[in-house]
Amino acid sequence: MASSAQENDRVNDLVQQMTLEEKIGQLTQLGQYIPDTVPIDDRIRQGQVGSILWLSDPAEINRLQHLAVEQSRLHIPLLFGLDVIHGFRTIFPMPLALAASWDPTLVERVQAVAAREARACGINWTFAPMVDIARDSRWGRIIEGAGEDPFLGAAMAKAQVRGFQGAEIGSPGHVLACAKHFAGYGAADGGRDYDSAYVPETLLRNVYLPPFRAALDAGVGTFMSAYMDLNDVPATGNRFLLDRVLRREWGFRGFVVSDANSVADLATHGFARDLQDAAFRALSAGVNMDMASRTYLEHLATSVQKGRIPVAVIDEAVRPILATKIRMELFEHPYIDESQIQSILAAPEHRQLARSAAQRSAVLLRNEGQLLPLKLHDVKSLAVIGPLADSQQDLMSAWAMTGNPKDVITVVEGIRNKVGNRIQVEYAQGVEMSRKYPSMFDVLMGRPQPTPWTEAQSQAELDRAVELAGRSDLVVLVVGELATMSGELASQASLELPGRQVELIKAVAATGKPVALVLVNGRPLDLSQVAERVPAILEVWHPGVEGGNAIADLLVGDAAPGGKLTVSWPRGAGQCPIYYAHNLTHQPDASPMFTSRYWDIPSSPLYPFGFGLSYTTFTYSNVRLDQAEARRGETIHVSVDVENTGERPGDEVVQLYLHQCAGSTSRPVRELKGFARIALAPGEKKVVQFALGPDELSFWSSAENTWVQEAETFDVWVGGDSTAALHTTFKIK
Ligand code: GLC
Repeated sequence: MASSAQENDRVNDLVQQMTLEEKIGQLTQLGQYIPDTVPIDDRIRQGQVGSILWLSDPAEINRLQHLAVEQSRLHIPLLFGLDVIHGFRTIFPMPLALAASWDPTLVERVQAVAAREARACGINWTFAPMVDIARDSRWGRIIEGAGEDPFLGAAMAKAQVRGFQGAEIGSPGHVLACAKHFAGYGAADGGRDYDSAYVPETLLRNVYLPPFRAALDAGVGTFMSAYMDLNDVPATGNRFLLDRVLRREWGFRGFVVSDANSVADLATHGFARDLQDAAFRALSAGVNMDMASRTYLEHLATSVQKGRIPVAVIDEAVRPILATKIRMELFEHPYIDESQIQSILAAPEHRQLARSAAQRSAVLLRNEGQLLPLKLHDVKSLAVIGPLADSQQDLMSAWAMTGNPKDVITVVEGIRNKVGNRIQVEYAQGVEMSRKYPSMFDVLMGRPQPTPWTEAQSQAELDRAVELAGRSDLVVLVVGELATMSGELASQASLELPGRQVELIKAVAATGKPVALVLVNGRPLDLSQVAERVPAILEVWHPGVEGGNAIADLLVGDAAPGGKLTVSWPRGAGQCPIYYAHNLTHQPDASPMFTSRYWDIPSSPLYPFGFGLSYTTFTYSNVRLDQAEARRGETIHVSVDVENTGERPGDEVVQLYLHQCAGSTSRPVRELKGFARIALAPGEKKVVQFALGPDELSFWSSAENTWVQEAETFDVWVGGDSTAALHTTFKIK
């Protein structure tokens, strides 16, 4: 590991040798899928490329790296970047699911496996973690983040960066990480992907930026600038974000890559006059590397020759890229050993971890009469029904393009593996579903669209499923949305269950058979018509390659659900955006007279942030502080007793929420400021401790226009979700 002085010398030495074209080449990221008049091989030989993206074939990666190292003038190796979001070949539950485990250690382990597999195949840079806060379930990319809360989002950002990068950049078997999409992307108007985001500085500072700051504190090597306008300034040309916050305030020393084509798109936005202006504005704002648009390659030199950009600015943009390649030891070890790949990708512990991650990400939303875990001793026939019950593709997410659907254990398979030797398990699809507008991923991957059923076929399939339910002892109904119905360019105006799923659920429930609903989805969906019609609802998200086995484990009780929601679950799209950390307003929701702002539905979410049931019960008692008063800058310790008062072992996510009762501004009614997932045997009691110091008690005040910690009284609640009732208070003097 070179010292920073040695690293600096090597960078300076390289920069001194480089021509202007070679410097701009390091600021350029290209790929074979990008139409170009010049073959990529020639661009690499001429030193016009610093990084390649969207390539996952190991042999081709090695071939291009040989070109760069052996045939370019300065032999500078390439970075190979790809979206390894939740697994490379072993596909894990998608990020919103992983966050629902509230288990940063698990998330770090998952991303370390993803990094190991990707690095073995030559990918040395992942465009992850996506740390965008999302408060609107209509936004399809909500699945890629950790949900609505900055405290949880920061913990997950840190865990992912450590998983991907290891203890430091250059750790063997790890990859460079990339905090994206900087910043405010999840606040798009109407939840419409790519639309403008209007976020006041107080919300940016207190909600949208903290996960990015956490990624930086964890040592993330790169940031990605977002596509959209933030307060009318495109993020990729946004000095406030890229220069003032990221470099001057936070001291970031890595490098920023744009999102795909977003340098060129500064002109599309009507922000830059033309591509030359776009190149100038992006570089001046602080974007080091131009992803996929060739705008830097084709227009920066002109700005330099015209004296609009000093060469020194180009050099400053190149340095962190070279420094990163040195730290990654790419000069010493540019190639991968293809003979190692199979053994790494097929490592059994990877699938075991995928199964455990799917178990721990699941959230039990309803369990009337303790239907779950299923009592099977006198069950002879079990019906597995639903359009996602036998799907492999849809147990992964849209971003799992390097996964192989054939690796996936379906829900039907998982249940047959579990009980098929003693119970008759029959399957019926019941209904079909499809997107009205094609998915970008289906088009990119050339996946054919299924032929829609005829009216007669549709009715016959529905009838067949209901008939199967009627003659079975038990029904597992698997519903939700296709993997391509969330993710990028997959926002929804409605959150209704697609196709005739509501009809199917109602008809199957009407048979009177016990029904366990299993939800396979990327984001909260509108369950308002069905939630009360079935006794049990298990949210499993897009659970990854071991999804079927993990779901079967959970259904029969070989694993117990312990996950909690990281988004407030809306009753329908009309409630979006919805989030728990709202202000009190002049008439708090809790006022007895007016229980709802809407006249047609309650204002409260269907399920609150932090919510999730278990197969056992927990009681909270004896919340206490080590001091009821403290000075600003001091830390207050909170303790609480948590007991498993049920018959089965279980995990509980103990959560601490804080409210500042008064101050220079109104403060959210509650904010998560501590959590811990603990395992408790029946009857076991544990003491859980939290520390509330300046970090937890400070906030950005829009009245003071700076960070403040104020001498006020605080409410503290501790419990199993954001409606926790166990309360105490303390004062800061
Ligand atoms: C996409 C996404 C971004 C991704 C990049 C490269 O459009 O916005 O998340 O990392 O392009 O695939």
